[in-house]
Amino acid sequence: MNLIESIKQNARQNKQRIVLPEGHEERTLRAADIVIQDGLAHITILGNRNDVLKKAKEFSLKNLERADIIDPKTSDRREEYANLMVELRKSKGLVKSEALELLNNPLYYSTVMIKNGDADGEVAGADNATGDVLRPAFQFVKTLPGITVVSGAFLMFMKDKEFGDDGLMVFADCAVHPDPNENELAEIAVATAKTTKAIALMEPRIAMLSFSTKGSAQHELVDKVVKATEIAKTMNPGLKIDGELQADAAIIASVGLKKAPGSEIAGKANVLIFPNLESGNIAYKLVQRLAHAEAIGPVLQGMAAPINDLSRGCSVNDIVDLIAITANQAMGKE
Ligand code: ACO
Repeated sequence: MNLIESIKQNARQNKQRIVLPEGHEERTLRAADIVIQDGLAHITILGNRNDVLKKAKEFSLKNLERADIIDPKTSDRREEYANLMVELRKSKGLVKSEALELLNNPLYYSTVMIKNGDADGEVAGADNATGDVLRPAFQFVKTLPGITVVSGAFLMFMKDKEFGDDGLMVFADCAVHPDPNENELAEIAVATAKTTKAIALMEPRIAMLSFSTKGSAQHELVDKVVKATEIAKTMNPGLKIDGELQADAAIIASVGLKKAPGSEIAGKANVLIFPNLESGNIAYKLVQRLAHAEAIGPVLQGMAAPINDLSRGCSVNDIVDLIAITANQAMGKE
């Protein structure tokens, strides 16, 4: 069974409640139909019930009648949710009239549903930019205890099976936090280790990437990666992690041996942690396009509940896969 099939199998065995805020969007509705048909999750669609069912009929989607369909503008939970929002954001000066206004936006309504325990996870972004999906989540769902920064990992399925574990590698952060400091970079490494175990089903061997290997260059940017590696080891003493390493030293055995002799990671890393979002985002897109790797994600990590953001170019299958991944995260496997 391939990895995505095992993830789907897990999702079927312990059905989670996943909310899809973009109920106006065709690919989302088609994905919801497949997810319900396959029994991967209980689905809540946000949107006007008549509009959703009209589209279901137009697209011949037979299963959407089995979804919960909630209109954020008329829901009877608005008062309760607005009170919760004010409670959570009173230090930021949020007042009830503003909370009620925010609830008209399905991307806010969905995160408050999760915070209130009415959904286990969310998938959105087929029709909204990353920042618009993430901001409500940061404000109302927030991070896991002990974690201050949310980041995004990609499962990279390489054509060349010599890399990672039989061609599977995990890259992070490729999606969220533009300029992490050393503590945040360490948190990203620790969170990615968890994602690697829980979703990629591999034992992580983490390379903390830089333009230097073991002191070959001196620069404050190199120091940041060295310090982050030490902090990550303190946060999780069992972690298999090494840095700073250049990309070739991390993944090519002969180069690793030469530049970082004695390292248990160099030459055999299956997890690459990039020093900032520029390098991570550029790297995953280049590997995807130039090496024809399949990139699944971003799988968001560090959030108190799983909320995952789609690329606006996503396919229906991408949405189905991300719903299954989100359900696995919601089972406490993050
Ligand atoms: N983790 C946890 N919380 C965060 C994070 C983070 N990484 N970033 C911001 N926050 C919190 C802040 O603490 C703040 O909380 P508060 O209101 O309770 O004080 C809140 O979120 C808003 O913070 P801002 O600094 O105002 O953040 P902003 O909303 O401007 O930006 C965002 C956050 C949207 C994630 C920004 O960092 C961003 O745009 N990142 C890049 C996303 C992106 O475009 N990625 C590339 C595309 S994705 C792809 O290619 C797959």
